[in-house]
Amino acid sequence: MMREMYGLKVVEKTDEAKDAVTLVFDVSDKSLEGRFNFKAGQFIGITHNIKSEVVHRSYSISSDPNTSDRLAVSIKKVHEGRMSTFLVDQVNIGDELMVTPPAGNFYKEPESKRHHVMFAAGSGVTPMMSIIHHLSLKKPEDSITLFYWNQTFESSMFIKELKELSQTKKNFNLFLAFTKENLEVDEESNIFSLERVNDENLKTCYYNWSTTIDMPLFYLCGPEAYMNSVESFLSRRGFDEVQIRKESFLIGVKPTKSENTTTVSGEDELLVGDTENANTSRGGTCIATFDDETVEVVAKNDETVLEALLSAGESPPYSCMEGTCMACQCKVVEGVAEMPTESFLSDEEINERNVLSCQAYVRSNILKVDFDEF
Ligand SMILES: Cc1cc2nc3c(=O)[nH]c(=O)nc-3n(C[C@H](O)[C@H](O)[C@H](O)COP(=O)(O)OP(=O)(O)OC[C@H]3O[C@@H](n4cnc5c(N)ncnc54)[C@H](O)[C@@H]3O)c2cc1C
Ligand code: FES
Repeated sequence: MMREMYGLKVVEKTDEAKDAVTLVFDVSDKSLEGRFNFKAGQFIGITHNIKSEVVHRSYSISSDPNTSDRLAVSIKKVHEGRMSTFLVDQVNIGDELMVTPPAGNFYKEPESKRHHVMFAAGSGVTPMMSIIHHLSLKKPEDSITLFYWNQTFESSMFIKELKELSQTKKNFNLFLAFTKENLEVDEESNIFSLERVNDENLKTCYYNWSTTIDMPLFYLCGPEAYMNSVESFLSRRGFDEVQIRKESFLIGVKPTKSENTTTVSGEDELLVGDTENANTSRGGTCIATFDDETVEVVAKNDETVLEALLSAGESPPYSCMEGTCMACQCKVVEGVAEMPTESFLSDEEINERNVLSCQAYVRSNILKVDFDEF
């Protein structure tokens, strides 16, 4: 099954911080038929052959979703990282890269006026940038607060742009934390902490955002341990999980083995859904809902749910096809899906009947899945 990819030309490359660049693609070509229109907080996939290996990685879009002819991604080099090193060090203006269309649903447009409270660490600020651009333009009544952790000033992406925004936009507040800077906590410079994330500095964050009455929506992006600390603090403060959205970059995180595995014919299996009705072999009818439409396809025994939908000419959300980007996540509404025993989904997500359609096989006569919840 071929992933939907397009050759896009790099028209701009700028240094964003130490070992970090922004690449701007031209997406104005009419033949693209709007496939690169994007929503705030979405990401694209970039595929390239690096040292004889095809590498596919996801990158959040950092530009304003309200500009239709350009799309920017901002990449920070990770130690010995194949794609990030290639994009930061070797790609130049004029080069063409193979790119998959925007995917993901980190940001959902709220119906009422809200306070958007963002927690970002390192390159986790990237999806926040497109959300901040979008909110500044389309939701001037909403409040935006960004708490942004970095090691040093030099390694901080978008620092100049964010400081300018905090000075020019009345509804945008910026708070900076540095973990390896020899500085003082200083309100004038927006610096509120010189420590890694902990309950003490999260309390300072709380006092800074809780003054506004609009029900906050939280956006978290950064290393897993960072997001876990913030999420645990928020739930201890009584915020509901529906208020909290997380974007995981999964850098250096290994897929984990689920505790929910069962052993069938001597092999470990992970079945999700009405497991007592599972068939012993793969394949069956798949009824999928996405973009408010429901379609019915037949999945062969060697086809994943995503492959069956794509073979039938459908366009469900997806990007990497490798179980790492989470764009293809859906919920089992009826029937049984089989997932690999090791995946990036937590046991909690699996208990909630979530599966990755690029990894899941049909294991009941009928499997109903819903993509629209994500
Ligand atoms: C939805 C999404 C959005 C993203 N957005 C951005 C963005 O905006 N900007 C950005 O810079 N990045 C972003 N990323 C991360 C990006 O996709 C890459 O993961 C990152 O650039 C590293 O890729 P690489 O090929 O350079 O590194 P790799 O060659 O994959 O190696 C990554 C590093 O992790 C280590 N590593 C690799 N595999 C393992 C493992 N199994 N266990 C332990 N360590 C391991 C390696 O030693 C290396 O240091 C995003 C990821 C996702 C899923
Ligand atoms: S398409 Fe990326 S996880 Fe399935």
